[in-house]
Amino acid sequence: MTVTPKGLAGELRTPPVAHARISGIGGYRPRRVVPNAELVDRIDSSDEWIRERSGIIERRFAGEGESVIDMSEFATTPALEMAGITADQLDAVIVATVSWPYQTPAAAPMLAERLGSKAAAFDISAACAGYCHGIALAGDMVRAGTAQHVLVVGVERLSDFTSLDDRGTAFIFADGAGAAVVSRSETPGIGPTVWGSDGAQWPAISQTESWIDVHEKNLGWPHIGMAGQTVFRWAVWGMAPVAQQALDAAGVTADQLDAFVPHQANVRIIDAMAKKLDLPADLPIARDIAYTGNTSAASVPLAMERMIRHGEIPRGGLALQIGFGAGLSFAAQVVVIP
Ligand code: UT7
Repeated sequence: MTVTPKGLAGELRTPPVAHARISGIGGYRPRRVVPNAELVDRIDSSDEWIRERSGIIERRFAGEGESVIDMSEFATTPALEMAGITADQLDAVIVATVSWPYQTPAAAPMLAERLGSKAAAFDISAACAGYCHGIALAGDMVRAGTAQHVLVVGVERLSDFTSLDDRGTAFIFADGAGAAVVSRSETPGIGPTVWGSDGAQWPAISQTESWIDVHEKNLGWPHIGMAGQTVFRWAVWGMAPVAQQALDAAGVTADQLDAFVPHQANVRIIDAMAKKLDLPADLPIARDIAYTGNTSAASVPLAMERMIRHGEIPRGGLALQIGFGAGLSFAAQVVVIP
């Protein structure tokens, strides 16, 4: 017996394809400023070494009233304001994070509830590339008509998962939140995303033990470890070509850019990428890491938000953004600055 379909694919109603843009952006930096001097004794380091090897002068650690959800809400409020919408107009809430302390449910539904939204809400785990993954998803959702407005939050409380005795990470990781609203647009505002992963390097940045081992072997609280040099080399050699591909895919040349906003992992990585990309000498380049440290999923939106707030980059101009980190994972795209 042959069975035949009752409906035809051609009869399926789908929304018209639209354009998408970032319509609002916001950031939240925790209150407590932690200078290098506060960390150096436990890791036999110095303020000079940390500044020279990473570019970090200080970072922020979250405290009471600054949970993953609190920080996400504080970053979202100005983003919604800039977008000119209210939370009930959101069709989806995407939270990119690796430091939400619950296996399930995700942070996003709780954030949506806090904001007064009943939108679709889910988390994504792509570490320092999480925000750029979120922008890719949100842009495609809006273009395809699944949503008109999507909130993308990159948020981390990495201080909860960092050992202050680990010489390779104690001075790098930090806390904060960045939020962007992606909305339907008359003109294109988010270029094609170039993204990928290299799972062969899965252990290069990872939680030290699985939750099962922590429980069964009675291990202490796990933290995130990193093979710094391995990741450094991968980032310096591997990520400039990805950024270049994102430019090419968008049909944009380096001299048409108004900003370069790479993940804030290490100022030496940022400088090496800028050199390899042969970026114009006067192009504004995000160096938020000096005062914010490496906030993983929050770093790109926080860095862009600071540049806009300080009037360093023109609204409506073009920014090349790239996130990269644990996985190892990466994602890059050219966006119109909100
Ligand atoms: O966000 C996700 C992506 N993450 C990244 O992209 C981070 C990539 N990695 C890095 O940024 C760098 O590898 C670090 C900043 C983590 C480390 O810098 P490095 O230049 O790669 O240091 P290293 O491990 O090569 O060590 C160089 C020297 C060694 O001493 P000797 O053997 O040359 O005498 C280390 O023992 O620096 C020493 N060292 C330190 N000294 C003071 C290593 N860590 C420290 C420290 N303080 N914390």
